[in-house]
Amino acid sequence: MARHSVFTKLGLVASLAGVVLAWPLESSEASGWDGKWYSFATNGSGFNIQVAQASSPDGPWTWLDHDALPNSGSWTTNNNAWAPDVKRMPPASQSLFIMAYSGQLASNPDHHCVGIATSHSITGPYTPGNSPLICPDILTTGGAIDPSLYYDERNNKRYLVYKVDGSNLDVNGGCGSPGGTIHPTPIMLQEMNVNDWTTPVGDPVQILDRTAADGTLIEAPYIIGTSDGHYILFYSSNCFTDPTYDVKYAVATSITGPYTRRGSLLTTGSYGLASPGGASSTPGGDVLVFHANCTVGRCLHTIDMSISGGVVTLKG
Ligand SMILES: *[C@@H]1O[C@H](CO)[C@@H](O)[C@H](O)[C@H]1NC(C)=O
Ligand SMILES: *[C@@H]1O[C@H](CO)[C@@H](O)[C@H](O)[C@H]1NC(C)=O
Repeated sequence: MARHSVFTKLGLVASLAGVVLAWPLESSEASGWDGKWYSFATNGSGFNIQVAQASSPDGPWTWLDHDALPNSGSWTTNNNAWAPDVKRMPPASQSLFIMAYSGQLASNPDHHCVGIATSHSITGPYTPGNSPLICPDILTTGGAIDPSLYYDERNNKRYLVYKVDGSNLDVNGGCGSPGGTIHPTPIMLQEMNVNDWTTPVGDPVQILDRTAADGTLIEAPYIIGTSDGHYILFYSSNCFTDPTYDVKYAVATSITGPYTRRGSLLTTGSYGLASPGGASSTPGGDVLVFHANCTVGRCLHTIDMSISGGVVTLKG
């Protein structure tokens, strides 16, 4: 049986993935943490960014009555923030944490772009930057959402992966009745300054794009590296309100790709789940953390896994 730890406070209403975890104390980047795990989620319960805490990724998770991002930045509506990811920023002596999130543009609330906020406490409050970090032309691309952060120990480089939000230009955000053009939703990899996480280095590289088998979109990218030299890119395809929403993965031996698709890991029906998606992984690749449809919205689940030779095996 899968070990499901249902985090019922997480309601997601927007067309995206929302739940992301943080590091354990054991992580090389996590000294000075308090030995706990943290999960950050899309706006809900009156907060811009929700946060929950657990002593193990398998839970039980405690929802903290606390907004990790009370101010999402003057460039945002300070509302409707989505899909955060939190990582520690070097040097370790500074105990600074970085949150990447999708902020709703004050200049055009129909669109989201990726922002960065920092805090000396993992639970925040995080202080946002004065402008979005990544914001492709919104009228032609839709915007940028679903950021996640990855430190590559192998080459001592930092990266941010995100989705170009073409779904935002589709009928019903790529959900609901088909119609009109389906816009591209490429997954982009942006190298970041290794010392600050906040300055892009060079241009973003496209590492994956939607195929017909993905339905209207791909989203929610999350990369980890394995000790045997593989990069695992978790992502979701199809609309989150549809039973076809899923967790897929692709594998590469270079972080910039090419990524080889390895199909679905979780689909509706797996372990009794409905529309699973938005997966992230513990740094060691031993627990998959994701969300799935539930009566209150989208609930957090975890399942043990192992990764070897670029192949992910769920151990539920
Ligand atoms: C997030 O904010 C938007 C905009 O205010 C709101 O419509 C939505 O209900 C909020 N989501 C949750 C889960 O509270
Ligand atoms: C999600 O759950 C709600 C509430 O149980 C249900 O009404 C809806 O049909 C479900 N959607 C999917 C795609 O499973």
